[in-house]
Amino acid sequence: MTTDQVAEPFSLSLRAAIEDGHARAQGSEFVGALLAGELNLAGYTALVTQHYFIYGALEAAGDAMREHPVAGRFVFDGLRRLPALVADLAALLGPGWRDLVEPRASTAAYRDRLAEVAATSPTGFVAHHYTRYLGDIAGGQVVRAQLRDQHGLTDAGARFYDFSAIAPVPTFRKRYRSLLDRAPWTPEERAEVVAEAGVAFDHNVAVLVELAADLPTFRAA
Ligand code: HEM
Repeated sequence: MTTDQVAEPFSLSLRAAIEDGHARAQGSEFVGALLAGELNLAGYTALVTQHYFIYGALEAAGDAMREHPVAGRFVFDGLRRLPALVADLAALLGPGWRDLVEPRASTAAYRDRLAEVAATSPTGFVAHHYTRYLGDIAGGQVVRAQLRDQHGLTDAGARFYDFSAIAPVPTFRKRYRSLLDRAPWTPEERAEVVAEAGVAFDHNVAVLVELAADLPTFRAA
């Protein structure tokens, strides 16, 4: 590299690398129905249920990575989603919710990947962490507004989208990008983060595709 060439910050390379996966997730039929206000509460609850299993595995990985000198910097207690998901499921399904929830096959595969890679590889953990939390902080706020307007869900049932514990969000996102940019990764390790983020998007798209198979039920009044 010559002196007048400045390397692109890693956060920007990562963001560019997930563009295609993001378009597939955002453009999926299930997300389209959600944002169009076509999903009934059963459809929304099916999504919350998948999040419950996904975040159980992701936050268990966070517990495993907490002391790691680099990956541990990404573990923020204020981001923790599992308590909110437990409260949301109790609100949506009632006190017996635990007997009513099961992961879809694609969710079980995603959960296995989180246990195998995110809980054991620091770069894998950051890739999965980035894919979910930055997505929920950004796109999740669009979903939050939809839930409020369509179903009147503002608190119980939609706590998953409440990120007040890490507010203000723009400052948090800036801090997160700077963590990505300053992580002392080799080019190979950066490539691992990018590759695993691609895997994370594939899993998310697979979950959305599997949920879409039930749209006739989820669109019913
Ligand atoms: C409900 C549908 C979705 C909408 C409306 C949406 C929208 C957005 C928006 C507006 C941003 C901010 C882009 C920026 O900072 O310029 C964003 C970023 C992001 N989204 Fe989504 N998104 C959706 C679904 C998803 C899904 C399903 C995932 C993955 C599970 C995801 C992962 C991400 C990630 C990782 C980022 C951060 C990119 C970065 O700034 O580095 N999004 N999304």
